Amino acid sequence: MMRSSYEIFSEGRIAELTLPNRLVRSATWDPSILKSRKMTKEVLHLYKELALGGVGLIITGGFPAFNQQNRKAVSDRWLLGFDETRVEGVEEMANIVHSSRSECAVIAQVENGSLDAMPSETTSPFSSKKFRELSVDEIDDIVLCYVEAIEHMKRAGFDGVQLHAAHGSLLSRFLSPYTNHRADAYGGSISNRTRIIHDIVSKARRSVGKFPILVKVNCTDYLEGGIELESFPDLAREIERIGVDALEVSGGMWDCLRRSEQELGFRPVPAPESHTRIGDPEKQSYFLKYAEVLDAAIPLILVGGNRDIERLESIINQGKVDLIALSRPLIREPDLPNRWLEGRGSQTTDCISCNSCIYSMHHFPERIVTCVHKHDKALHRTAQEWLSTWVDRVLH
Ligand SMILES: Cc1cc2nc3c(=O)[nH]c(=O)nc-3n(C[C@H](O)[C@H](O)[C@H](O)COP(=O)(O)O)c2cc1C
Repeated sequence: MMRSSYEIFSEGRIAELTLPNRLVRSATWDPSILKSRKMTKEVLHLYKELALGGVGLIITGGFPAFNQQNRKAVSDRWLLGFDETRVEGVEEMANIVHSSRSECAVIAQVENGSLDAMPSETTSPFSSKKFRELSVDEIDDIVLCYVEAIEHMKRAGFDGVQLHAAHGSLLSRFLSPYTNHRADAYGGSISNRTRIIHDIVSKARRSVGKFPILVKVNCTDYLEGGIELESFPDLAREIERIGVDALEVSGGMWDCLRRSEQELGFRPVPAPESHTRIGDPEKQSYFLKYAEVLDAAIPLILVGGNRDIERLESIINQGKVDLIALSRPLIREPDLPNRWLEGRGSQTTDCISCNSCIYSMHHFPERIVTCVHKHDKALHRTAQEWLSTWVDRVLH
C-alpha cells in the first residue's frame, strides 16, 4: 500500500527551508572522518544512499568546533581538541546530498571538542578525571569557536546547523542544573543557563542572517536535580526565545548510566539517548510525552525510538510534533523512508534497537558505523557482551 497521502510524507519546513517530507536522519557520528581528518569515500557514499533512500533531511554526525586559534586570555592547552568542522572536503558532504537527485536537505551538527574544563568543577563519574570550572574568558572563546563553525558550515554549502546541546555535551552541561552550579551570569536562572546558546546564536546571526540554526536538547537528563518533565517546558521556551529555528527533543546524560535499571526505567547501556528493548509499541517514541507538553511556535523534531510508520503518522497528525527523527533504523535501512512510502515489507523498521552499532562506532572508528546485528551475528554477540558489561567495567 502506497502511503503518499500520509501527512508524514507531506512537505516540512524549518524557517525558510522546505523539506520534501517529515522524516529526518538524526545526527549519527561519522568517526572515520575525524580519524582520518578528511572526508572519506565511504561516508560520502552513505550520505548519497541516505538522500536517495527518501529521508527529507539529514543531520550530520557531530563536528567538534574548537579552534586552537581562538584562545584569548586562557591557560595553555585548555582546548584539547582541534576544529573538525574544517576537515578537508567537508563541503563534499553537502554537495553529494544536493546533487543526488532528491530534494533532501543536509544540516551540519556542531558540538564541542575536548576540554579540561566544564561549566562547573566536576569529576567524571566514569574515568574519575577532574575538570575545573571554565572562566568567562574561556566561555567567550568557546562562543567564538561555535560562531566561526556556523559561518564555516554555511560557506561549505550546508542548509543549516544544529547545536548539540543534549546527552552531556558541553552546551547541555550549561543547560542542566545538575551539572551547572555557577554563581555568575552563566549559571542559576534559566536565562543564565541558556546564555551561552544565546551568545552563540545572536553573534552568529550578525554574519549568517536567517541561515537555519537548530538545537538538540535534553527533555530529561534522567538525573535527580537535572532537566525533567516539569522544568523542560520553561527551558524550551527560553531557547525558542533566543531565536533558534527548530528544537530536537532528545534526552539522557551519560552520567545517568550509573543509576540502576529500576531507577532509570531502561537498561543502562551505552548510550542513554538510545534505549534498547523497545519492541513493545508503548516503549517506542520514548520522548513523546515531553514534546507533547511544549507549546512551541518553532518546529519540534522528535527523536528516540521512532519505529512504526503508522504510529509515527498518528504522532504527526496530533499536530504537536512537526518532524520525526531516526538514527539506528537508518543505519540498518538507509532506504527505510522509501520502503515505508511504497508500503514494502513491515510497518516497523527492521532495526531491533540492540545498540551493537554503538559497539561498531567505538571499535572500528576507521569505518562507517554499521548494523552489526544485520551483517555479523558472531560480532553482534560480542557487542552485546561489551554493552551489558560496560557500566561495570568503567566504574570499577
Ligand atoms: C551510532 C550512533 C551515533 C550517534 N551519534 C550522535 C551524534 O553525533 N550526535 C547526536 O546528537 N546524537 C548522536 N546519536 C544519537 C541519535 O541521534 C539519537 O538521538 C538516538 O540514537 C535515538 O534515536 P534512535 O532510536 O532513532 O536511534 C548517535 C546514535 C548512534 C546509535
